[in-house]
Amino acid sequence: MLRSARDGLLVALSLGWMSGALAAQGVPPGTLPPVPVPMANPITPEKALLGKALFWDEQLSSTNSVACGSCHIPSAGGADPRSLLADDSLHPGADGLFDTPDDVVGTRGVIRSFASGAYESAEPFPMREQVTDRQAPSMINAAFSPTLFWDGRATASFVDPVAGEVVLLAGAALESQAVGPPVSDVEMGHVGRDWDQIVAKLSAVQPLALASDLPDALADFVSGRDYPSLFAEAFPGNAEVSATNIAMAIATYERTLLSVGTPFDNFLQGIPGSLTPLQNQGRQVFVGQGRCVACHGGPLMSDNQFHALGVRPPNEDLGRGAITGLPVDNGRFRTPGLRNVQLRAPYFHNGSMPTLADVVDFYDRGGDFPQNQDPLINPLGLTQQQKDALVAFLETALDDPRVPAELPPFDRPTLSSESGRRPELFASGGVGSGGFVPRAVAVEPPLIGSPAMTLGLADGLAGAPVLLGVDLQAGAPNIFLRHTPFLLGATPAMHFYPAGTLVGNGPGEGATSLTVAIPEDPELAGVEIVLQWFVIDPGAAGGVAGSDGTRLEFFAAN
Ligand code: HEC
Ligand code: HEC
Repeated sequence: MLRSARDGLLVALSLGWMSGALAAQGVPPGTLPPVPVPMANPITPEKALLGKALFWDEQLSSTNSVACGSCHIPSAGGADPRSLLADDSLHPGADGLFDTPDDVVGTRGVIRSFASGAYESAEPFPMREQVTDRQAPSMINAAFSPTLFWDGRATASFVDPVAGEVVLLAGAALESQAVGPPVSDVEMGHVGRDWDQIVAKLSAVQPLALASDLPDALADFVSGRDYPSLFAEAFPGNAEVSATNIAMAIATYERTLLSVGTPFDNFLQGIPGSLTPLQNQGRQVFVGQGRCVACHGGPLMSDNQFHALGVRPPNEDLGRGAITGLPVDNGRFRTPGLRNVQLRAPYFHNGSMPTLADVVDFYDRGGDFPQNQDPLINPLGLTQQQKDALVAFLETALDDPRVPAELPPFDRPTLSSESGRRPELFASGGVGSGGFVPRAVAVEPPLIGSPAMTLGLADGLAGAPVLLGVDLQAGAPNIFLRHTPFLLGATPAMHFYPAGTLVGNGPGEGATSLTVAIPEDPELAGVEIVLQWFVIDPGAAGGVAGSDGTRLEFFAAN
């Protein structure tokens, strides 16, 4: 069945400790086959916990602002719930222009930055979080896919990205995938980031320092230890913090994220009353007139093959064709599994369908673009009642209840981006040249002892001098001032720091950033300050344009 399961190099583990854990939670075993595991990366509880720590640690990004989990949230079925706020999550698509039909609803990564921490303001995402050019598919049940990504470019044999040697021969698409995001300068990394830099950073930080509400098992595992000690426990005999071990640990964690126990699983096991009459009618459309099961069959509800449905013209995103170079593959994407699908909106590789009803309408009309289209995609002639039933089946019969509730193994820490630890912006700016209000940019959490935290300013008058003002009335002045020798001047309420001149061309186009080290002073914990940028702009009232305000509170690592 699964290509990897046939592979003689794989052991289809019976998963002693995991199935035990599932049984302990009273969850029926469902209909999934045993998870395929590469022989040289067996699952151990310690490795899975290390992988979980890494997956949820925003310190894996250059900017301390993005974890794997930022884009893969369990309660969103393993996709990115922020994508629904399309404004921030829009990619301009192949033509590079926003508000055209090829736009993609993607997921937000890092602001473009350099190793120094400095931000670069570059189109199409000037001084804001860059957006991926595809939707984030789920890490849940990804362990079963012989290849990963929409185009299958993460392959079964895993090559150590540093040594360039094959480490795992087969069944290792998860490992292959995991070494991508940390060095991607859109998803998690600065421009030119390499594994030496990632390993050096991880070796120096306190694991999960930015996260809060750690699940007990994870908190017990980390318990004040550093990453080198955690790697030593997870990889006895080969203890180093390395790209390969990072990938192996994350993949091991992902091999524990298996969703079972859906109403549909229960139905397949013959448990009476598992599906409502409407869901059952939808199931019949799914396997009958809808022909869905031709590609979404089997326990994963995916054939893991590549098909062109006609979501968009193939030339906008070649999909599989860009990997194989075969014209016949242009516009083909890997069939996603449908477990937990209702949590994962918006749908398709480009996030173009906001709801499952939209998806069903799309199939019913036989797709939108005929080029290269799969012969199975034809008008279906479903009645509205059949469509409603199909939607009901997709929406309510395919959820593992532990996923939306984020119960183990889908439990997780709270990210700093989800908590009050991320700086808060509030409107208080004043208009400058061209009618633009300078825009403060603050996404990095103010962790005490952090060697680099970057703040940005955009939308000001290019070439104009800029100052960063610190409002000390909101904070505890004496503690803060201990560490601030570079004061330019002060009013009773504000201290000013010179921050150079804005780079760019013309009004509203100037931008800059300031990277500061946050002193290792425990007394800073809980100190709140308010920041505001001031652009010396002759076109502004009084000659100064102020930015939005930024409120931040310093915090200590957990
Ligand atoms: C900025 C958002 C973002 C971050 C951060 C991110 N991902 Fe993803 N992830 C995506 C997108 C987008 C895709 C699909 C890309 C494609 O197919 O071209 C993806 C694909 C995947 C897949 C493949 C799923 C499938 O069915 O093909 C897995 C597994 C995955 N990511 C795990 C991870 C891990 C592990 C990390 C951290 C090391 C991570 N992601 C970091 C956005 C993100
Ligand atoms: C020819 C194979 C094929 C058939 C038949 C098919 N699908 Fe799909 N399905 C796919 C592929 C491939 C994708 C991803 C396409 C893309 O993103 O461009 C997909 C995507 C989806 C998605 C979006 C999932 C996500 O995570 O974005 C849903 C929901 C879905 N299909 C449901 C159905 C239903 C319901 C039917 C029957 C009416 C059906 N499919 C028939 C191959 C198929």
